[in-house]
Amino acid sequence: MPLHDFRSDTVTLPSPAMMAAIAAARLGDAARGDDPTVADLERCAREITGKDDALFVPSGTMANLAALLAHDCRGGEVIVEEAAHLYNSEGGGLSVVAGAVARPVKGRHGILAPASIEAAIRGSANPAVAPTRLVCLENTHNAAGGTVMPVETMAAIHDVARRAGIPVHLDGARLFNAAAHLEVPIGALCRPVDSLWFALCKGLGGPVGAILAGDAAFMRKARRAVRMLGGGMRQAGLIAAPALVALDDPYPAHRRDHALARRLACGLAAIDARLVDADRVQTNIVNCHVDDADDIARDLGARDVLTLSRGKNRIRFVTHSQVDEASVDAAVDALADILATRPNWSTPCRESLPT
Ligand SMILES: Cc1ncc(COP(=O)(O)O)c(C=O)c1O
Repeated sequence: MPLHDFRSDTVTLPSPAMMAAIAAARLGDAARGDDPTVADLERCAREITGKDDALFVPSGTMANLAALLAHDCRGGEVIVEEAAHLYNSEGGGLSVVAGAVARPVKGRHGILAPASIEAAIRGSANPAVAPTRLVCLENTHNAAGGTVMPVETMAAIHDVARRAGIPVHLDGARLFNAAAHLEVPIGALCRPVDSLWFALCKGLGGPVGAILAGDAAFMRKARRAVRMLGGGMRQAGLIAAPALVALDDPYPAHRRDHALARRLACGLAAIDARLVDADRVQTNIVNCHVDDADDIARDLGARDVLTLSRGKNRIRFVTHSQVDEASVDAAVDALADILATRPNWSTPCRESLPT
């Protein structure tokens, strides 16, 4: 029986076209600027982001850290949405490595309001206060269920930050999902920020890595930070080649993933409307509200449906290139079976769910 793996969009394996590109890749020492395939990937990334410079890095976590270092955040505050990945799921690197203090701000469904950011910005006049050094956005927002921040909201936040002399960084792990949902090219989402990264190994389906981009002055510092963090890679064309395959016409695949997520959300809602806010499913993540997430995830796993439990009351499904309609239907059937054995399951406490 096939395994239906909804744990994350990071579980995908390279497609046959990617494997062929790996075999044919021209290679060199990327850390010396000698790898022609990495150079091609970075050129492509400059074009699609519209930024001066772009760098292929091993992971999104490293891209975020390098950005914090390059934006000189040490000793200052970094405004983040309170459920942001950078703040909650990156090992505390913001403090340990970048020497900054997180200033969590609550968004609505993960989407920060410009007014909340304006209220959270702290100046440098009071020596008792760590001044704001950076605003970090996350689009799409992972923990909130792949929610999309509109371009206009990003632009309004950028205006607020610019007036205070503070740069804006974008964690765009799933930027192509946001762009596919909004039906804009990713360049439109890169314009209202000073620096950004996007993942090559999530919805794009590449095996490894991320692209960090920004203006020339920022990237000079970021290149040094990445090198310092151990991100100088050698024959990295091996992993840049499949990324180039993924970047060739990426939007149809993302739209397909989103349609699968909607199918899943509708299927789950048809079992019990309390399970999902189907209207909130915009991209490839479906948060499912249950009474005992660990138990349910384990029972789903026993039926070959892999998910992640996120806290006591939430299991997360992520759609990607290696699940299909049959996987979605198998997941819905499996959860219907499991809940049929728990007729008295109770609605989870809404306060415990991200809003
Ligand atoms: C929103 C977000 N930011 C950052 C990361 C970290 O990326 P990486 O796993 O490439 O370090 C992830 C990983 O899932 C993520 O979802």
